[in-house]
Amino acid sequence: MTQYMPTIASLAAAAAILLAGCSPSNPESPRRSRAPFGKVDGKEVFLYTLRNKSGMEARITNYGGIVVSLLVPDRSGRPGDVVLGYDSLSSYLKATPYFGAIVGRYGNRIGKARFTLEGKEYTLNANDGPNTLHGGLKGFDKVVWEADENTPATQPSLSLSYLSRDGEEGYPGSLKAAVVYTLTDSNELRIDYAATTDKPTVLNLTHHSYFNLAGAGSGEILSHELMLNADRFTPIDSGLITTGELKPVEGTPMDFRTPAAVGARIGVTDDQLRFGRGYDHNWVLNKTGGELSLAARVSEKTSGRVMEVWTTEPGVQFYSGNFLNGTNIGKGGKTYAYRTGLCLETQHFPDSPNKPAFPSTVLRPGEKFASTTAYRFSTR
Ligand code: GLA
Repeated sequence: MTQYMPTIASLAAAAAILLAGCSPSNPESPRRSRAPFGKVDGKEVFLYTLRNKSGMEARITNYGGIVVSLLVPDRSGRPGDVVLGYDSLSSYLKATPYFGAIVGRYGNRIGKARFTLEGKEYTLNANDGPNTLHGGLKGFDKVVWEADENTPATQPSLSLSYLSRDGEEGYPGSLKAAVVYTLTDSNELRIDYAATTDKPTVLNLTHHSYFNLAGAGSGEILSHELMLNADRFTPIDSGLITTGELKPVEGTPMDFRTPAAVGARIGVTDDQLRFGRGYDHNWVLNKTGGELSLAARVSEKTSGRVMEVWTTEPGVQFYSGNFLNGTNIGKGGKTYAYRTGLCLETQHFPDSPNKPAFPSTVLRPGEKFASTTAYRFSTR
């Protein structure tokens, strides 16, 4: 496995190859550039830079579809990197808690690493005790996606695709997955997911950025204020597997319908918080169907940054970074200690393949899966 180990800074300087629709002489035009990031499984990996007209910049690699950095202006216009990650590809290959990645084929947990579909039982690779988490041993976060550099870039965007073969990680059916990242001029990072299959399968695609609106590596996220547009959540057992219930948040520490600091109730005695080691649960979003609707709003006082999460998905996993432990060196030499990043993973409910009452995650031949999530940034 050959790897280059350029730093983010040198990559910025090297990012000279401007692609379709880009005009270096006109800073007002949508822009996308790329630089080499290394090689995995004999395939070239690149780091793409998207820039919009409103001061945002996203760096995304086709390895795992990982958002490596995301620069967002604060209330005085100063850009800050709001996602946790690494400077080099080799660090992502060594160990990562899914920093910034596209997660699939099935995001979140499937209990006992098995499920039955149309009368047939499928056994998956277990990678979280007896369960499967985030796609298994080598999920969509650990594969090289193909970048389609020929799509005309009217807006700064990156189209990625990946063919997951029949039987990969135990899942049935060859699945063609496509993800398009778009950095819009209204300061949103939009993710459009699409997929088709040649056999019935299950699918749950999500994105796993760890956000810290005060800047990656700047400390705990416990004072971030969070609103979750959800009257109910899906309780978990001690193995973090959903019980199948949809429980009202009313009167519990899971109630974020009115904005509250992440840390305000995280320490109270509560079985759900104990099982999750903090927040690590799926909320049932208030919505009528598959419309793009507001799932969450996070704000951070010192920077003034606000992030809204909009999605067509029925659920969102709010994870308060309870497994972060500061062991790995992150971007710019910073380490990411306990609860210094939070994830808002839009999704179908965890363990849906084994919970017939949950919205279905089954995809059949001839069907087209489509899903959209947008992370919208502003300041106050
Ligand atoms: C998800 C899970 C967590 C944890 C993280 C990655 O959010 O729900 O339990 O596995 O991913 O560390």
